Amino acid sequence: MKFDTHTVVMGILGNPLGHSLSPLMHNQVMERSSFNGIYIPFTVEESQLGEAVTAIRALGMRGVNVTIPYKEKVIPFLDALSDQARACGAVNLIENQDGKLIGHNMDGPGFMASLRDAGISPEGEVLILGAGGAARAISYSLSMAGVQNLTFAARTQEKAKALADFINQSGGCPAGAASLDNVQESLARARMIVNCTSVGMAPKVEFSPLSSLEKAKMDAVLCDIVYNPLETRLLAMGIARGMRTIDGLSMLVYQGALSFERLTGIEPPVDYMRQVLLEHLAK
Ligand code: ATR
Repeated sequence: MKFDTHTVVMGILGNPLGHSLSPLMHNQVMERSSFNGIYIPFTVEESQLGEAVTAIRALGMRGVNVTIPYKEKVIPFLDALSDQARACGAVNLIENQDGKLIGHNMDGPGFMASLRDAGISPEGEVLILGAGGAARAISYSLSMAGVQNLTFAARTQEKAKALADFINQSGGCPAGAASLDNVQESLARARMIVNCTSVGMAPKVEFSPLSSLEKAKMDAVLCDIVYNPLETRLLAMGIARGMRTIDGLSMLVYQGALSFERLTGIEPPVDYMRQVLLEHLAK
């Protein structure tokens, strides 16, 4: 790849960035699309977060993704937020629109795109495991997309209740809370189950957020946001029952694809992005 004075600069801002796959994915896609751009990892200290965000404008960068621990903390430094980012109170993409910094959140839309890609339309009752940032982003999108009802089952009950309150107030669909140990009724009714906890992520691959899927409908869709391993313990339990599953790589790829499209205006080669990440994870 040759760089010149027209090279578009993008990147990702977080700390630590250790395992982020975004630089690999975006740089490979730009090369493949013959797009004159570069995607740089920026490990930023919290005390310099404001200066780092201001630098996006000062240096004329096209935009940056934002990851842990700054998805909420960048908001005071931005000029405007998309509806999704405002509702979620979190930003994973800052777009520089001629000096105006706009915060977006592509986590929910990325998840919805991964459902569309699998030919699944969200409907009926949905059980969400976890009540953190990813749960909030995904459940907000689902609640606006016509699901009938959401139940949050989380280790910390107050968080599950608070998230249910948030969904109830946001005007999408009704929501309630359960505990992870007492989830059987919701499991039996759910058309879709989404793991939004980190349980099952390497190296603790033997863990599952649910001890059994016996009560789950056979035709329920089982989704996991964990992508390392691709087949988590939870997904393996679902596959063993013959359930339809969606792995976490799909959401990662689609949120990356939506970010890329937003910043470059180019339709991203989604299959290629997935292949790049699959090859990397297989190493
Ligand atoms: P993210 O931004 O990826 O959603 P997060 O906001 O830290 O990350 O949320 C992680 C979710 O996974 C939380 O609901 C968390 O539960 P707590 O709020 O009780 O910490 C959940 N989680 C993480 N480890 C868990 C575990 N071992 N068992 C159950 N839930 C767990």
